[in-house]
Amino acid sequence: MTVMWSCVALVPVLLLLSSLQPSEAGRVLVYPVDGSHWLNMRILVEALHTQGHQVTVLRSSTSWYVAEHSPHYTSITVPQAQPQNIESQEFMAHFLKRSLEIQRGKGSPWAFLQFCGNLFSMLRQNQEMVAELVVTMFENQTLMRDLKEAEYDLVLTDPVFPAGVLVAHYLQLPLVLNVRWVLSGEGHFAIAPSPLSYVPQVFSRNSDQMNFAQRLNNIFYHCLSYYMYRYVSNPPYQAVCDRYFAPDEVDVISLIQGADLWLMRVDFVFEFPRPTMPNVVYTGGFQCKPSKPLPAALEDFVQSSGEHGVVVMSLGTLLGGLGPEITEVIASAFARLPQKVMWRHLGERPLSLGNNTLLVKWLPQNDLLGHPKTKVFVTHGGTNGIYEAIYHGVPVLGIPLIFDQFDNMVRMKARGVAEVMEVTTLEVESLTQTLMDILDEEKPYRENMRRLSRLHHDRPIEPLDSAIFWLEFVMRHKGAAHLRTESYKMPWYVYHNVDVLALLLGSALLVLVLFVVSCMCLVRGLRKRRKSKLE
Ligand SMILES: *[C@@H]1O[C@H](CO)[C@@H](O)[C@H](O)[C@H]1NC(C)=O
Ligand SMILES: *[C@@H]1O[C@H](CO)[C@@H](O)[C@H](O)[C@H]1NC(C)=O
Repeated sequence: MTVMWSCVALVPVLLLLSSLQPSEAGRVLVYPVDGSHWLNMRILVEALHTQGHQVTVLRSSTSWYVAEHSPHYTSITVPQAQPQNIESQEFMAHFLKRSLEIQRGKGSPWAFLQFCGNLFSMLRQNQEMVAELVVTMFENQTLMRDLKEAEYDLVLTDPVFPAGVLVAHYLQLPLVLNVRWVLSGEGHFAIAPSPLSYVPQVFSRNSDQMNFAQRLNNIFYHCLSYYMYRYVSNPPYQAVCDRYFAPDEVDVISLIQGADLWLMRVDFVFEFPRPTMPNVVYTGGFQCKPSKPLPAALEDFVQSSGEHGVVVMSLGTLLGGLGPEITEVIASAFARLPQKVMWRHLGERPLSLGNNTLLVKWLPQNDLLGHPKTKVFVTHGGTNGIYEAIYHGVPVLGIPLIFDQFDNMVRMKARGVAEVMEVTTLEVESLTQTLMDILDEEKPYRENMRRLSRLHHDRPIEPLDSAIFWLEFVMRHKGAAHLRTESYKMPWYVYHNVDVLALLLGSALLVLVLFVVSCMCLVRGLRKRRKSKLE
């Protein structure tokens, strides 16, 4: 009898336990950015799913990479008439071609203006399309009601295109950013003090040690960055903010600055040290994982390299191929090496291809970089590839093409783990020599990279675990406002204490004037008295 009763008494406890389970699991709304940015957002999504959280991904109907159906998330598809440029392989091929033409006119003011024009028009078109997508969402009452009723615990988004930031504000939800870029430039510049004397701006190609001319150049690129934000990227979103939120009170950059937590895709083995903030969590390299065995055919190819080892080349997901002139140069240089070469190449087969080179449409980059026979990684300098190279300790030859890739390679070169070559001036002779230098065990590249790799691995918690911990932290505490400074709400003259300085300077000036005036009066009085005495 008592046994039975205790069993009955257990039922509500069990019910309670089972009802606790789902309430501990969070609901996360993800607004990703397509292309290579999705590659690392997807890793966070999968990790959240593994932890038992429910993930909903907002995607556009023209999305290139973000699949509609996945075992790891449910998706909501928002109709979009035409794909975002940056998600279109054709557009990016054209953009790259144009960028290379401009790079050939290197240094001339005309080329610089063209560079700005090309970049700004690309950015503006993209930002306008994203802003339109936000309007489509906000105009759909059913969708917005569904999103509200789903009671998400937080919004996770990549703010380089800040649609997710606006959605989070509309739904009044805690916001976590998976970020390196925001619409005004590099993420830190939006929240942390960034002295331009040693923090290089994007596109400046400066390191953290700048001479006078370089600091001048750094300030110039800072102004350019501000112009880009103010007149190119922000206006489409300002229109959305004015229409749906309090006009003239809300702007997208302060919504970004007000995010609860920044999962910053940065590690200081790569980035130059700089001031930061308490709500920034560094997750650089969280996408990296140990390598798996290669498929048999590739393993045979790699093993056939013998003691010389393998060179791996890939120019990333966004960029199809370079023109035939450049690929011929690269193919010829590869043909001269004793190593075997595995080259991810999408265009025509180069005529000068050596019999040591294998062309592939796709390669298991992480598994290849983790293979002990891999000696050099030839890359365009995107951060996903760079972190994989650091993770596995493979030195790099950078051939940067667009965007931040030049600045990324400046960092790698400053660490002594890479050489950089200009794609527009590639020559067989110098390319072969540079490859041989990096391959040379006597030279420090490989040892430097191994050291960087050891530093990268030596940490208390894996960056992916750290990212998940902090996401759950924000869910548990419904935000992380206590970690955020309120500095972004201040007017500029308060932020820089201009009002206080003005008062202090004013008072000092006043005291000085009073002093001078009273001295003059005193002198005059003395003179008068002496005069009257003499008379
Ligand atoms: C609005 O959103 C709902 C829910 O996602 C969707 O079923 C519907 O087709 C959308 N309506 C329009 C006009 O796009
Ligand atoms: C590859 O080419 C080199 C020189 O061009 C030649 O000596 C070698 O025999 C070739 N190897 C194979 C497997 O064809």
